[in-house]
Parts: sequence; structure tokens; C-alpha cells
Amino acid sequence: MPIVVVVGGQWGDEGKGRIVDLLARKAKVVARYSAGNNAGHTIVNERGEFKLNLVPAGIFYPEKTCVIGNGVAVDPGVLLGEIEGLQAKGIDTSKLVLSDRAQLVMPWHIALDKLDEASRGATAIGTTGKGIGPCFVDKVARRGIRVADLLRPEDLIPRMKNSLDYANRVITGVYGGEPIDFDSCYQAYHDYGLRLSPYIADVQGVVFDAHRRGEYVLLEGAQGSLLDLDHGTYPYVTSSVPSSSSGGAAIGVGIGPTDIQRVVGVFKSYCTRVGNGPFPTELFDDVAATLRDHGKEFGRGEYGTTTGRPRRIGWLDAVAARYSVRFNGLSALALTRLDVLDNMPTIKICTGYELDGKIISSFPSRESTLERIKPIYEELPGWMTPTTEVRTFDDLPPQARAFIKRVEELLECPVDLISVGPSREQAVIVNPIF
Ligand code: IMP
Repeated sequence: MPIVVVVGGQWGDEGKGRIVDLLARKAKVVARYSAGNNAGHTIVNERGEFKLNLVPAGIFYPEKTCVIGNGVAVDPGVLLGEIEGLQAKGIDTSKLVLSDRAQLVMPWHIALDKLDEASRGATAIGTTGKGIGPCFVDKVARRGIRVADLLRPEDLIPRMKNSLDYANRVITGVYGGEPIDFDSCYQAYHDYGLRLSPYIADVQGVVFDAHRRGEYVLLEGAQGSLLDLDHGTYPYVTSSVPSSSSGGAAIGVGIGPTDIQRVVGVFKSYCTRVGNGPFPTELFDDVAATLRDHGKEFGRGEYGTTTGRPRRIGWLDAVAARYSVRFNGLSALALTRLDVLDNMPTIKICTGYELDGKIISSFPSRESTLERIKPIYEELPGWMTPTTEVRTFDDLPPQARAFIKRVEELLECPVDLISVGPSREQAVIVNPIF
């Protein structure tokens, strides 16, 4: 039975939560493998609308094991708040498992994230301010504190002292900020450890054993591949590996790359980005405002789940998307929010870039080059009719089918799933993914 990875193909917010929620029906284990509470998923089901930052989107199916993998940066206070919020709405969280190898976001990571952003001035990354970057810096510097440490004061105390001592030297010496007090942080994290202990386990075994028993496993990506530390629009990226390449998904839950059979890339039918950095097809006109505010009255507008920031909007960028298809090794695409284009008389897709009078079809590595290129667009007729009730590919308006076929051609990958609205049933399954 396959292990399937779901990744965001663009700059995040592609609607992965919604696709994972749909695919989770057949999976036995749903595991998050990267990022932290910088990421956010919105899920609408019969129990209401939920915004998740750390808990995998499979949590709404009580029989599924939901795993937070070692690749995730965990803010334990946020995780506990999320668990309690779910429980208050009657969601069973007893099958949630938190990796003992996951790194903890500490209060000084949040302080350093904000200080670093402020010090960058005009070149700020536009981070979510959740401390994720500094947490991964400490992980790589071998100064991080892991979930397992929460369970043993004899590990937690010296590790926290060591990490905080270093952080305070940076906070005061580099940024002239106020040092952070050890005792209050220790009390809070000791308490988090007690409350999280029922969930903490070695998740590598959970995923591996399920796979060996022949059960479906779904690995849930967070953010988007173009924010990837290696392959994204560096330095305007996140500090982890959202893509499935570089082994991001495999590393993040502790399996081998050959255990993964399928990688599904989730792409919006247009593009959005939050935070700073290059965005070749960005729009600043009425079209951007129309797409951003589509469904705003139902909380569906293009505003960040985590920060509430308005998202930058652009047409679908097939050059960036094809690059993402390739470095993720995608086997299928899930195209989301097709219905947001329902009222567009014409729809554009960027098929190439013009750079210094020449046409290029590859995605440049330099952000300064990306800032200079001019997108070349192909215009397709819109369908000007609602698609929200459509459930089969053949019932889509011909112009919508033509748009999807063109996306497949340009991205060199089949579209297996299309979403036409926020709820579970508003989907067109072209080819079953599991
Ligand atoms: P950080 O991950 O908070 O350090 O932010 C780095 C960049 O990634 C910023 O541009 C953020 O806006 C962006 N980012 C981080 N998480 C997400 C996400 O879940 N969706 C979209 N953008 C994100």
C-alpha cells in the first residue's frame, strides 16, 4: 500500500488542508512532516470550520492516527491550545502522536524572529513571526531542545540554560533587546511537558509499522515548495523543507525515500503569496481585488490563516509551477479553487518569462533576476458560470476543461483532483489518488 505525500506546489496556502482532508478518508495514518505553526490549514466539514496550525488535517476522522513528525517545529503552548480547541468542539484527539524527536519553539525564538525582521528593514523576509526560522537555526547549530527533553527535567534544564544563554547574548549584544528570564520559561515548558506527555512517542515506528502492515499513509506537507529553503525564492523562503525533494517528507517522519510511492502537488488555479519576495505574475489591479475577496463574506477570501495578512495575488505561473513539479517529482496535481475563476471573462496563464529581450522558460535562481523578468501570458476564455455544484470532469464547462487540459500540458503532469468549493463534497475526482 502506498505512502502518498501531499505538497504545496506554489508559495503556500494552495488548499492542502482541504485536499488532505479529502484523501485522509482512505488513509490509516496522516502525518505532518515539516514547518510549524507558521503554516495554517482551513478545513470545512460537517462539524464546522476549523483552522489548524500544527495538528494534521486527518484529526476529523476518529479512527486515523495523526502524527506530528520529527521535522515539525512545535510550539507546545500553541499545540495544547489547538488540542483543547478541538476537544471543546467534540473532536477526539486521543489518536494524536507527537514525535519525541521534534524540535521545540522557545520564547526566545519568537523574540529573535521579530528582532531579526526589524533589523532587516526594507529587506525583511515578511516572516510570520512565530519563531520558526530561529528554531531551525538552533536545530542545525545543535543547540535545539526537543520534545523528548520536556519529559526529563535533568535534560530540559541544562539544554534550556544553554540555548537561552546563547539567545540572550544575541538579544542583548546584537539587537540591544531585553534578556529573557529562565525561571518563567522553565515553569511554562515543564507544565507543557506534563500536559503533552500522553501524546509523545517515537513516531518513526508508527509510520513504518503502518506501512509494513499494508495500510495507507498520507504525509501532509505544509507551506509551499517555492518557499523551500533549497529550491524556493531564496532568501525569501521559510527555514524548513516543505517540498518532497531533498527527502523533506521522508526525513520529516523517519522513512526512506523509496517508501514513498506518490507525490501529489496542490496548486491553486491562480497564485498567491504572503510575505515579501519575488512573485513574477503578481497583479495590482481590480482582478487582484476580485480574486482576493471572492467569498470573503464566508471567510474564504485570500487572507492568511496564521496572520490574517492580505495575500498577494497573481495569475497561474506555469514556469514556476513546472519547476516545482520537477523538483518535487510530482505524480499528480490537485487543482484548487477553480470556482474562484467562475466570474472571470478571460483567464491568463504565464507560459514564459522575458528577460533582457530574450524568452526563457526556466525558473531563475536569483531573486534579483526574478524581480526583472516580464511574464508572457496566454489568454484563455473564462466560463462565466458557477462550477461549485459540478462533481465530474465531463460536467465542467468546456472552457474550464480546456483550462485544466492546458495546465496539464504546461506543467507536464496530470490533474487528478479539482476542488470547486470549500466543503468535502465540492470536488471533482478525475483519477482516484489512493
Ligand atoms: P517564516 O516561515 O515564518 O519564517 O516565514 C518565511 C516566509 O514564509 C514568509 O514569506 C512567510 O509569509 C512564508 N510562510 C510561512 N509559512 C507559510 C504558510 O503556511 N503559507 C504561506 N506562506 C508562509
